[in-house]
Amino acid sequence: MASTEYRDTHAGGLRREDAGTVVRLAGWAERIRDQGGVVFVDLRDASGIVQVVFRPDVAPEATDAAHELKREYCVRVEGTVQERPEGTANPELATGRVEVEARTVEVLSTADTLPFHLDERTEVEEGRRLKYRYLDLRRPRMTANLLARSQAVGAMRRVMEERGFLEVETPTLIASTPEGARDFLVPSRLRPGQFYALPQSPQLFKQLLMIGGVERYYQIARCYRDEDFRADRQVEFTQLDFEGAFWGQDDVLATLEEISVAVTKAVRGIDLPRPFPRLTYAEALARYGTDKPDIRFGMEIVDLGGVFAATEFQAFATALAAGGAVRGINAGARQMARSALDGLVARARELGAGGLVWLVVEADGSLRSPTTKYLSEAEQTDLVAAFGASPGDVLLLVADRTDKVAAVLGQLRLELGQPSGHEELAYLFVTDFPVFERTEGGDLVPLHHPFTSPVSVEAMRTDPDNAISKAYDLVLNGSELGSGSVRIHDPVVQAAVFEILGISPEAAARRFGWFLEALRYGTPPHAGFAIGIDRMVAILQGERNIREVIPFPKTQTGADPLTGSPSRVEDYQLSDLGIDIRPEVRQAWAEEAGEETAT
Ligand code: AMO
Repeated sequence: MASTEYRDTHAGGLRREDAGTVVRLAGWAERIRDQGGVVFVDLRDASGIVQVVFRPDVAPEATDAAHELKREYCVRVEGTVQERPEGTANPELATGRVEVEARTVEVLSTADTLPFHLDERTEVEEGRRLKYRYLDLRRPRMTANLLARSQAVGAMRRVMEERGFLEVETPTLIASTPEGARDFLVPSRLRPGQFYALPQSPQLFKQLLMIGGVERYYQIARCYRDEDFRADRQVEFTQLDFEGAFWGQDDVLATLEEISVAVTKAVRGIDLPRPFPRLTYAEALARYGTDKPDIRFGMEIVDLGGVFAATEFQAFATALAAGGAVRGINAGARQMARSALDGLVARARELGAGGLVWLVVEADGSLRSPTTKYLSEAEQTDLVAAFGASPGDVLLLVADRTDKVAAVLGQLRLELGQPSGHEELAYLFVTDFPVFERTEGGDLVPLHHPFTSPVSVEAMRTDPDNAISKAYDLVLNGSELGSGSVRIHDPVVQAAVFEILGISPEAAARRFGWFLEALRYGTPPHAGFAIGIDRMVAILQGERNIREVIPFPKTQTGADPLTGSPSRVEDYQLSDLGIDIRPEVRQAWAEEAGEETAT
């Protein structure tokens, strides 16, 4: 490393070959073992940890000072690298075969007693971790996650730059646009009563850039969505957003493969095979019950409509007659007590199915189940054949509306088969998404966003429920990493989409008139994508929650315990903005304050 005013060596890089060298280190005293005479200090900096030893006979003054050290004091040490004596090497440390024999130590700053231990073995409640995030970030897990994130973004930038993409920033105070979630609004002081929205994504700006002749655009873009938190959602998150002019779907997918390969190599050191598998949305739903299948394991859903076409078993016959489906999964050979099998029935009901039929394949190939008495010999034989089942296998069948069958079996499949680790990485593309979906209230809404090109404008008009779009997703280990589409570049088609969505021409003109006008000035065909960086890094790092890879995330309730956001503001600030807080809200504040004083 390049020497600085404080040090000439990183702690984590010291090896046997360095024995004999005099080094200057700076970092934190992670662990101190004071043996009365000799003092051992684990010195940590961003690169790792090395053991420093203070011996009274070698450096009496430094050793005296070392007796005074406390955890997390920030120190500078000068000493000589030595091979550790026989039998004292620490195989858990990369630097475990050496130690630094200190000559001098200088305390750069002291540390109060910490609110929690920084070692990985101590479980700390998350609210506390976030309140002291700057200390939490000193833990090796967080150091590794920040490093991985930086490596991932670095690899993304390299691919983009090599392929001639221009990094362009787009504004974060914008007009409210429809991306599906609720907008965060920012009041304008200069125009009281008016609001900016924070972007849910740079979607329309990147399309404007295409119209503006920027043929290859990318941005590491911060996005804001006022939506409910989940393990893979934050209100503020980051995308690698990119777009290309004169591009079709395959151009986007090829670029995505390059990015994914480079990021995976940078973060995990793994060379991914290409091309990535592709499934259509319809195939993904039929075989895995979801549009983001985890294909690290089989247990695919099998359609049994043929097997039970003429069945006399009422539950199956009714579902099929109503246009629904009978499908199942082979959960494989597993020892399950009757109570556990019945537990699966209860679980399927919880997931929304009317019920679940379980069958166990006996040693002679026959089926054991409370349902067998309703199934003909031929149906039972065909069933075993349809699953390619062997003795011991547990077969699980659901009959219901097709979407419900898919959802329930898709979820059971995950619960029974999904690997818990993250060693194996299964990327795939899902293509041919429908243009629209129906809300529970029956309204038609875009499945991706309203700027996505339909495969056929005609089909979209005549049968919007079944129309296919040129939208695609990138999926990794059962999570949606990102989405994109070929865009509409014809203002007439764009207007048609708004019309089908029930947005009147006047309303469309009012809300997106500026965009519809822009489309009229020679818009090139274009397509693009956005990868959720937080999700990608979390999965590559084996983290279940994206908070672990976000330096300063929000809690489940949207708060930041460290800085206290969101917070109230002064009345004069509200008055400048022309905003009144409603009396009932003020009342709630007062009650809250009362409770706080009381406790
Ligand atoms: P979409 O809305 O699918 O597409 O978002 C793309 C990706 O962004 C990530 N993401 C999130 N990550 C964390 N927290 C959230 N709340 C959150 N919401 C989304 C996901 C998701 O797959 N403009 C389009 C892209 C395009 O068409 O080019 C868009 O934003 O990983």
